Amino acid sequence: MSNIFRQLGDGGKIFKNEGAFAPEYIPEDIVKRESEIKELAFALRPISENRRPQSIVIYGAPGTGKTCTVKHVLGQLTEYTSRCFSVYLNCWNYPSRFSILSRLAEEVGIFIPRRGVAVDEVRAELVGALKHAKKVPVVVLDEADVVADEEQEIFYDLLRMKENDGIDVGVIAITNRGDVLSQLDDRVRSSLLQSFMEFKRYSPAELKEIVRERARIGLFPGAYTEEVVGMCSGFGAKNGGDARVALNLLWLAGRSAEKDARDEITVDDVEAVKGSVLGSLKKEKIESLDGLDKQIVEIIRGAGEDGIKSGEIYSKVERNERTVRMRLGKLESMGLVEAVFLGGGGGRTRVFKIRK
Ligand SMILES: Nc1ncnc2c1ncn2[C@@H]1O[C@H](COP(=O)(O)OP(=O)(O)OP(=O)(O)O)[C@@H](O)[C@H]1O
Ligand SMILES: [Mg+2]
Repeated sequence: MSNIFRQLGDGGKIFKNEGAFAPEYIPEDIVKRESEIKELAFALRPISENRRPQSIVIYGAPGTGKTCTVKHVLGQLTEYTSRCFSVYLNCWNYPSRFSILSRLAEEVGIFIPRRGVAVDEVRAELVGALKHAKKVPVVVLDEADVVADEEQEIFYDLLRMKENDGIDVGVIAITNRGDVLSQLDDRVRSSLLQSFMEFKRYSPAELKEIVRERARIGLFPGAYTEEVVGMCSGFGAKNGGDARVALNLLWLAGRSAEKDARDEITVDDVEAVKGSVLGSLKKEKIESLDGLDKQIVEIIRGAGEDGIKSGEIYSKVERNERTVRMRLGKLESMGLVEAVFLGGGGGRTRVFKIRK
């Protein structure tokens, strides 16, 4: 019988650097975001002159380059000046005031036990350490809309460290929802609004350039055509001007060609994987969830088309209601579940369903 690995071939005909399609890959050149990069740099520049940086809120639809642009600029900033250090937090993983402050404390060398410490103590310890730190922290709170209403005091903690404790802190909050600020307290909002940037959806032409550039980095020159680039960017354009969708389509198409041991991605490869790209992005999100999130998703999935009332979810999960409410907010922001208010006598009761 012929050897299966020999049949598969050496596999190396499509991807020059498959890592360029990994979610954590940060492109060296951010395409078509020059003015946003400049604005971010302008807001952060005071750090290099020992002055206080402006706080920044960035909002925009999924896949508009918010995360990669911020990471790119912070990389450049820390290379340019030794006066700061950056801490990137995805609020999916750090959704509470306690977890965010603990993580920052850890960054300056203080270990905080997970239990038995009050959040204000954590804050005090952090402040104490930052007073002696020689560098200004720049804190990125990505997916900031996941931070539940009752945890939004964290913005106040960070933004008012100058006034309250004489500590400079740079804050960059990134969110999908332009309205997220409306849930913040006025006093927080007014300090957050120093610099407010919208990342607009990419046009088809911009997406084409992004895909073309990534293909150049990740694929062998003969492994794709301009038509393939156009199809992938076109699909991203149709799905919300989303670069992630366009790039994932190209990656999956590449995998499909590789599976057949071919040396070129065809139009048919792209067509064949179109149906699975949106689903695979959703799956990626689900894989990033922890045990509690998954348990909640399973409970909601179990309820089927009729959905399940929030109160019933609370009673099924053996955690305090506040924690579960926070997680529901996160799952909703991620687009995995959806909630509708019950009309009539239902009050604030909401019914949760899996989002299709
Ligand atoms: N201008 C760009 N140039 C090159 N690559 C880009 C650009 N914009 C986005 N990308 C790529 O597209 C993908 C999605 O970008 P990114 O993660 O920054 O989007 P986002 O706005 O943070 O989305 P979300 O709101 O879903 O978090 C990443 O792989 C990123 O490298
Ligand atoms: Mg992002």
